[in-house]
Amino acid sequence: MRISYKKCIFFTLICAFLLTFCLNAKKDEGEVQLKKKVVSGEANRDTRRRQKPSSNKPWYMKDGALYPQPHRAPGSRLESYPFVPRFIPDQLPLNDRIVSQLMYVPHNYTEIKASGKLKTLLTFNGQGRRKWTVMKGRHVFLKHKCPVDTCEITDDIFTASTADMILYLDLPRETKKQSKNPKQVSLLYSMANYVSVPDAINWTASYRRDSTIVTPYVKWVYYDPSVQQKTQDRNYAANKTKKVAWFVSNCNTENGRFKYALELQKYIEVDIYGVCGRLKCSQSTPNKCYKLLENDYKFYLAFENANCKDFISEKYVVYGLDRGVLPIVMGARPADFQELAPRNSYIHVEEYSSPKELADYLNVLDKDDDLYNSYFMWRGTGEFINTHFWCRACAMLHNEDELQMSHKTRLQQRGIGMCTQGLWKRITRKRFFPDSPYKRNIK
Ligand SMILES: *[C@@H]1O[C@H](CO)[C@@H](O)[C@H](O)[C@H]1NC(C)=O
Ligand SMILES: *[C@@H]1O[C@H](CO)[C@@H](O)[C@H](O)[C@H]1NC(C)=O
Ligand SMILES: *[C@@H]1O[C@H](CO)[C@@H](O)[C@H](O)[C@H]1NC(C)=O
Repeated sequence: MRISYKKCIFFTLICAFLLTFCLNAKKDEGEVQLKKKVVSGEANRDTRRRQKPSSNKPWYMKDGALYPQPHRAPGSRLESYPFVPRFIPDQLPLNDRIVSQLMYVPHNYTEIKASGKLKTLLTFNGQGRRKWTVMKGRHVFLKHKCPVDTCEITDDIFTASTADMILYLDLPRETKKQSKNPKQVSLLYSMANYVSVPDAINWTASYRRDSTIVTPYVKWVYYDPSVQQKTQDRNYAANKTKKVAWFVSNCNTENGRFKYALELQKYIEVDIYGVCGRLKCSQSTPNKCYKLLENDYKFYLAFENANCKDFISEKYVVYGLDRGVLPIVMGARPADFQELAPRNSYIHVEEYSSPKELADYLNVLDKDDDLYNSYFMWRGTGEFINTHFWCRACAMLHNEDELQMSHKTRLQQRGIGMCTQGLWKRITRKRFFPDSPYKRNIK
């Protein structure tokens, strides 16, 4: 057999080429498989995270067990967002900062604990009608399992010059004695729509988002902010035969809610229970009234008695959301509801040009179960939390370096333009409540 030298080289080259090609292909396949494994591993971790949300819920949620770590020391090289505490109104003006306050632990908390020193909070009962009812001692901080619990409550007025915080309820009082504690904070707690805040007050606590410690009636927090809607396996319209309900006892309020309801009644059935209407549901049997709402009604008029910024009372939840009834809201501005309530969980009257236009839309919803049910998709995506006022007051007192941050701009602005007699969209500078202590500031 005569194979030429050239042919031999040619075949050898081809063989070598095929061999490298095959080996390379095998290696590629291996890499692909490896990559796939990594990807599916990540996917597994993701589903595990989603399936067990309770295991990493923060402490202030139901069954939550996640406690915050101490913050980085101020000025430390690693200090950066989100480790810088941001819970003073000027730092995040539109945010209520509740969650960051709930998750704050001072950088040297271990040393603070070990020192055995407690911050003292003096509850001062002045001439106001309401009185502080919190128990003396550390009870409230321990019972609520506060992340920062090195605080103590006292009502001994003789500690007024040394206490770390003096808490006033509703009525601000000037303390007579000069404080010997330069870091002492005077806090005014009030849920009234108008409060005149004297200079001697350093911090405020109220439902308003520009308070130092915001204490809303209800506070919604998502489990995962990127998941705000969820398909539901219940038809919230099922078996409901009636349309709008309203339980009301004060017919004459500044915001004209009763007039609005009467106008609405011309275009859709509105059942008014209580002294302002013809129907009765005794308040001595609240569960019967709740059942009535739950079983029969599609809508509830969660109308506040005043239209004030951030003012959203618990009635929106108690008579609406908790009952599977869609609340129609009047009170805080639409922008406040967007910030404070679960997404798409209510209908704001101000999104409609008139009661008639609103009634027309409610009649559409009444006939379209899918559309009606789309207002309940927030369910199961989060929860209304206990905002633990005392835990936050204690934690904030330990934020030594920011205790004295000035809140003056905010305090001076308190009251101006906070409430309106009519609807928000018709607001003019003259329309604030006539008895506002801030009237003189409005020109
Ligand atoms: C903790 O640190 C603050 C400053 O951030 C300081 O004023 C305070 O004395 C420290 N407390 C203890 C017990 O070390
Ligand atoms: C509606 O009524 C039917 C029959 O009484 C009952 O089986 C069903 O559970 C009710 N649905 C709801 C959502 O209450
Ligand atoms: C609280 O306000 C008073 C009066 O304006 C002021 O003298 C004091 O330094 C303030 N305290 C703190 C901790 O900022």
